[in-house]
Order: sequence, then structure tokens, then C-alpha cells
Amino acid sequence: MSQALRDARRYEEEHEHAIAPKERPGYHLSARVGWMNDPNGFSWYGGQYHLFYQYHPYDSHWGPMHWGHAVSDDLLRWRYLPAAMAPDMPFDREGCYSGSAVTLPDGRQALMYTGVSEELTPEGLRHVQAQCVAFGDGVNYRKYEGNPVISAAHLPEGGSRFDFRDPRLLEAPDGYRAVVANDHAGVGGRMLLFRSGDLIHWTFAGVLAENGGRLGRMWECPDFFELDGRAVLLGSAQDMLPKGFEYHNGNGTFCLLGHMDPETGAFVEESDHAIDYGIDFYAPQTLLTPDGRRVMIGWMQNWDTCNLHTPSTAWYGQMSVPRELSIQNGRLYQRPVKELEALRGAPVTYEHVKIADGELTLPGIGGRMADMEIELEPGETPFNRFAVRFAKNDQFHTGVSFRPVESVLKVDRKFSGSRRAIIHQRRAKVRHDRGRLKLRLILDRYSVEVFVNDGEKVMSATLYTDLAADGIAFFADGALSFNVTFYPLNP
Ligand code: FRU
Repeated sequence: MSQALRDARRYEEEHEHAIAPKERPGYHLSARVGWMNDPNGFSWYGGQYHLFYQYHPYDSHWGPMHWGHAVSDDLLRWRYLPAAMAPDMPFDREGCYSGSAVTLPDGRQALMYTGVSEELTPEGLRHVQAQCVAFGDGVNYRKYEGNPVISAAHLPEGGSRFDFRDPRLLEAPDGYRAVVANDHAGVGGRMLLFRSGDLIHWTFAGVLAENGGRLGRMWECPDFFELDGRAVLLGSAQDMLPKGFEYHNGNGTFCLLGHMDPETGAFVEESDHAIDYGIDFYAPQTLLTPDGRRVMIGWMQNWDTCNLHTPSTAWYGQMSVPRELSIQNGRLYQRPVKELEALRGAPVTYEHVKIADGELTLPGIGGRMADMEIELEPGETPFNRFAVRFAKNDQFHTGVSFRPVESVLKVDRKFSGSRRAIIHQRRAKVRHDRGRLKLRLILDRYSVEVFVNDGEKVMSATLYTDLAADGIAFFADGALSFNVTFYPLNP
């Protein structure tokens, strides 16, 4: 083991105790110490779920990328394992960037990741990105000495070796495929497909999808799978321009739905939409559970607002709740994994609660860790607005509000205690029948994830309100009734 990895492992053991469990999210994975970004190597291996992550243990800001590591039986309660990789080889000295995992026929786990190294170019020192592999037993991993296995030499004409990352390994009947994001002069991001029999020797097999300037600039973090008879390509885009209520400024996620052409084997794209419409969601990855569910997890954060919340903490960055995926009505539907139901305490249910022009609270509904289902029942007269406010005290709250006239659902953390001029609100268009709408709010200490209409759309946001603010209230402008089932969550 390299000194760099030994140092990282010692550091995380010595420092994790400084973070009290109560200061972390209850059931969303956060960095063991320091900084976390993208999920990596999300997989089922050796009878457990494994989740690695982009990791800088020494600071709560992004820095030289390691791979952190955690395992779980239920996708919600995670146990930290020692850091899996440190940037310690000539081919990854500047960082072990995002990647994925597969199980080999001999029982070992293979990781594929982007190794970043420095190169002297006519324009000065630049970071070059290439794809590397490592093999291990679920705790310790050995990097292949011949790394990188996919590098500039494998790129089609025009592909940039400076933006070439985040390999998504896939098993294939004749070996393996890797989908890798690449910047291409003129068209921006592309998802490239490579083919290999042994994970060591790779050949370029085609362009899976191409940006053409429509969704941001560089693309990152691909995932590619079949689901409910459709081919699904997930990606994350940098530098997006907004498109109506679909895509927002900055980094965002997208889902390309299509099919595989049986003649050419090419991915034929049919439609695109955002994956999450909230403020904080990026770089998602999926796995297939042993019982056949396609489950996705994302980094619940926004690159443009990192470390800008107060107060600063010894950890920074958390994952979303894992979400079961399906394709319905031509869209990617997401529902919290069913394992979440096992964390539910006794339900508190109210039916046909009447609310008119003001705020109300309901006995038994409060706290910062909860799973809450709400169904709106509009009356004869249309209402203007309905809202749920949580992480609430006299001074602070975060809200989810719905305006049927505009068909807009808004998540708003403006009053969450943030003292920075960062983005605090996001809006999404939602489908409803004259004000009839279904919401499911998943609350953890520092986040909210709103699932609309049984997973048709999702809005995720982090909030760092003092934990003492734990009230939940309902608000209406106009009159309506609603049903609510509330479960406290006990991880
Ligand atoms: C996405 C990303 C990846 C890269 C990693 C570096 O959030 O930029 O493309 O591999 O983060 O930490």
C-alpha cells in the first residue's frame, strides 16, 4: 500500500470521531471526514452494497481526489470502510476521478476510474485524463501497473484528452463495455463507447450520444442501461443554459430515452428530460439489485454553491436517497427505495384536513427526519397556493409550494438560515388535475427530496438550518383540503 493511501486511512480513523453522528445526515451517506462529491463504483459485491465516492479527506473543500468507501445491507445505513484509492501513481497523481465497478468471473471486484496526470504542453502544464483499472477484494485494491488502459491514443479524431472521464463499466456477452464522457471540438460533450474482452485491451466502438450544444458544454458521469424495454442514457452537463422549466443554469442532469438499433447496435435517442428539478443533484449512478431493481443514487449538491452555506462543517457533501427507477409515460420515474419503509416509525394520519388562508400545524407531525405523503383535495373554488414548511421555527423555514394556476411546484430555502447570495429556489412544472396533486417529502437533517405524483418528477435540495428548527406546518392561500400520512424516520 502506498504512503498516500496509508496516510489517508490513518487520517480518517483519527478524525471521524470529531463528527458526532447527530451532526450528520441520518440516512444519507456523507463523507467519512472532509469532502465528498460524485458517487463512484455503486455496486452489489460480496453480499453487500458498495458505494465509493469522490473524496478529499483532509479538508471540507474539493482537493486531490481519493476514493472513499462505504458498504450497506439496505442502501440507507452505511458503514465506512477504509479509503479505497489515493492519487499515488504517475498515471493518477493529480487525482483519481469518478468511475464504476464490476465483479470479475474470478470473484474479484474491478474498478475503472479516471486517472489525472500532468503533462507539459506548448500551452504550459495541463491535466490529462485517461481511464485506469484497479482490482480488489472489497476493501483493498491494486492498481494495474500498465495503466492507463484507455488514453488519448484510443480517442476518435477531435476528442480532447484533457476532458475525458468518468468511465461507466458494463458487462457484455463478449466481455466489457465502457461509456466515457469526452469533450469534442465543436460539439461539446459526447458519450463514447469502448469495447474490451479483458478490461486491459480496449478499442473504440462508437459515439453513443452527442451534445451538439443543446445541453450545456462538457458532459460528465454517464450511465447506460435498459429499463422497461427502453435504452436509457443518464448524464450530467456542465455550463447549461436554462430551457423553460426543464433545465436550469449551471450544472444539471439529463436522461436520454431511446432504443438500440438492431441493425447497427447504435443508441437511437428519442427524447430527453431532466432527472432532478431541485437545486442539489448531480452525477448519478445506478446499480441492479439482486432482486432486479434499477436503483440510482446521486451527489446531492450543486457545484455552484459548494461550501457557501453556513456554518462550515468538518464534513461536506452528501448523497441523495437511493431511488428505484422505472419508465412510465415516456419518462424516468423515481421512488425512494422500498428499504426506506423499514426506517418508518408509527404513522400519523389525517384525512380531509381543511385549510384556508393561513398556516396550521398538526399534532404528531414534526421533526427533521421524516417520510410524509400528502394528497391535495381541491374544493369547488380554485386555491392560489398550498405549501409545506419544515425545518421551521419562528425565524427559519424551508418550503415546498404549489401554485395550480401556473402548474408550478417550488422548493424555496431562502429562509433556511443561509447568509449567502446563492440560489435558494427552483421551480418545476407539475401535472395535476385542477389542483389535485400527490407529494412525498423525504426529510433528513440537512435535505429535502420531493417526489411528485408517485415519482414522475423529483426536486432535491440541501439546507443547513440549525437542527433545533424542527417544526412542520401547512399553509394555504385560498381554501382546500388535504390528506397526510406522516412517518418519523429512525435510521
Ligand atoms: C463531476 C466531476 C467528474 C469528475 C469528478 C472530479 O462532478 O467533475 O466529471 O470525475 O467530478 O471530482
